[in-house]
Amino acid sequence: MESFNELQQEVLRLKKEKNALILAHYYVPLEVQDVADAVCDSFAMAQKAVRAENDLIVICGVRFMGESAKILSPSKTVLLPSLDAGCPMADMVTPEDVLRLRAEHPGAKVMCYVNSSAAVKAVSDVCCTSSSALRIAKKLDCEEIIFVPDVHLGSFVAAKVPEKKFWLHDGFCPTHHKISEADVLAAKRAHPGAVFTVHPECKTDVVKYGDLVGSTAEILDFARKTETDEILIGTESEIVARLKRELPGKKIYGVGSSFVCPNMKKVTLEALYECLRDEKYKVELPEDELRLARESLDRMVNS
Ligand code: 13P
Ligand code: SF4
Repeated sequence: MESFNELQQEVLRLKKEKNALILAHYYVPLEVQDVADAVCDSFAMAQKAVRAENDLIVICGVRFMGESAKILSPSKTVLLPSLDAGCPMADMVTPEDVLRLRAEHPGAKVMCYVNSSAAVKAVSDVCCTSSSALRIAKKLDCEEIIFVPDVHLGSFVAAKVPEKKFWLHDGFCPTHHKISEADVLAAKRAHPGAVFTVHPECKTDVVKYGDLVGSTAEILDFARKTETDEILIGTESEIVARLKRELPGKKIYGVGSSFVCPNMKKVTLEALYECLRDEKYKVELPEDELRLARESLDRMVNS
């Protein structure tokens, strides 16, 4: 591993002194990823939070990721480096929306993407991530599924599970939604030999070109293992940066020029340092919300 700068060393010192576990999502800046104990997709983050023995967990990601860690490890202190790093897609669905959909479609089960608030998880039947959505939808014991909030992930799963009827909410990730079919076609024309990997939060007319459709971790895993040496990445720019650094012998290209999640970029090294130093910002959730949301997350982690 490369040498650490002064602030990174301070973070590592504080991490050791406080026996903290730092979990980072792949979209936060690389210099933050480099000081984490693990860099994960949302599913692995939830699993690692469950297994962690440390009393202090720092989630370098957006708010719903911190909430999920707290829900799964309620007796631990869970910190978020940036208080205003939220996920706009998670904010596109409310518990009232879920209750209305339930009333409209009695008999359907509610599957909520992990990119949702604790309050939404509390009124859902089961949670899922981009890497577990398909498996969970197939296994779910019902004929109809209400899927919130991501219309694109929901459409992707619905097309693969034709035996069930899906009712989709209309949320979306503003970052992934920005990429158009024209962007993909232009990138494919520029790099005709490249294999295209894409996150299912992209629009259907983008995802349809994917040679591999998967979560952040699945895209990374594919890029590392494939014999192809030209890979076109259809997800957030930090994945492109990470792969370029990790696989210098391969040609890694991004699709479009503005594939950046501004909220993940709020989790800076400075914010992480202050978070560890001052033990802020603590994730706190109402007792009953936490208990009900836990049932949805437990079903995801154990399924
Ligand atoms: P992953 O589940 O692939 O980590 O994605 C989380 C996310 O927020 C993608 O926008
Ligand atoms: Fe939310 Fe999109 Fe950012 Fe992921 S990339 S955290 S879905 S806004």
